[in-house]
Amino acid sequence: MKHLLGIEPLTAAEITALVEHALVLKSERTRGVITTALAGETWAMIFTKSSTRTRVSFDVGLTELGARALFLSSADIQLGRGEPIKDTARVLGRMVHGAIIRTFDQQDVVDFAEYGGIPTINALTDEEHPCQILADLLTIRERLGGWEGRKVAFFGDGDCNMGRSWAWAAKRLGFELAIAAPPPFQPDAAFLARLGEAPLTITEDVAAAARGADVLYTDTWVSMGREAEAEDRLRTLAPYQINKDIVALANPGAIVQHCLPAYRDKEICGELFEERADEIFQQSENRLHAQKAVLLALAADR
Ligand code: CP
Ligand code: NVA
Repeated sequence: MKHLLGIEPLTAAEITALVEHALVLKSERTRGVITTALAGETWAMIFTKSSTRTRVSFDVGLTELGARALFLSSADIQLGRGEPIKDTARVLGRMVHGAIIRTFDQQDVVDFAEYGGIPTINALTDEEHPCQILADLLTIRERLGGWEGRKVAFFGDGDCNMGRSWAWAAKRLGFELAIAAPPPFQPDAAFLARLGEAPLTITEDVAAAARGADVLYTDTWVSMGREAEAEDRLRTLAPYQINKDIVALANPGAIVQHCLPAYRDKEICGELFEERADEIFQQSENRLHAQKAVLLALAADR
């Protein structure tokens, strides 16, 4: 694996290997086992959007692996003044060992990988959020033993990066995915054509999505960059909240997951969020372990 640009380009074997390695790294960290496989390296973190989890988990992960994390807000580098991404990539490619990029356009991450010639990680674009999915799969592996034969139900904005990354994960790994969303927020026709055959159901019926689900998943209704549409989104998506009625329809033992940040009493009932905080923040912690597995996989294949 040369880059992590999305879940789409990965095989089932690659995804599974990353999750299994993350599990090992998590257990090693608990036992104080240290791997400084990236000693002496510098990895650039170019962020055009806000971040708490992704930024901190990559910074801590790189530090623990012996590398330096060089955080570059795109507002502070020439990229923010219009220097093309391919020029930024050609500069950094000669100085740093890898790049972690959070931005809007997927093509920017693709171009960086091509022109930089260094391992490149998609830390969230409008298209996909692969790092989050790997942490989510790790949580499913820990809490439910794995995803085989499981059903994931995603509620809310099914046409966002998380909805799309879940669709690719379901296609690659073969578990059942239901996306409950109103028509304007369902994955669009162009995406579905590209996805092709997948174990995916798209419905406006939240009860049908929840029934038989093992994982109840949601994300903010207002993704970064969509703030101007907030009022309309909050109104249209209101019936798609994860709450106790939804939990009651799911399988016994179903887990509630949220990639965070969470907006209480919008996409998730505030009381339910606090009740399920353990599994939600376990998912958040797992970002660190998954990130380290990705960094090591890319470094090994350089
Ligand atoms: N889930 C996630 O990516 O969180 P941040 O935006 O805080 O990085
Ligand atoms: N869909 C959200 C994910 C945040 C981690 C966004 O893009 O803002």
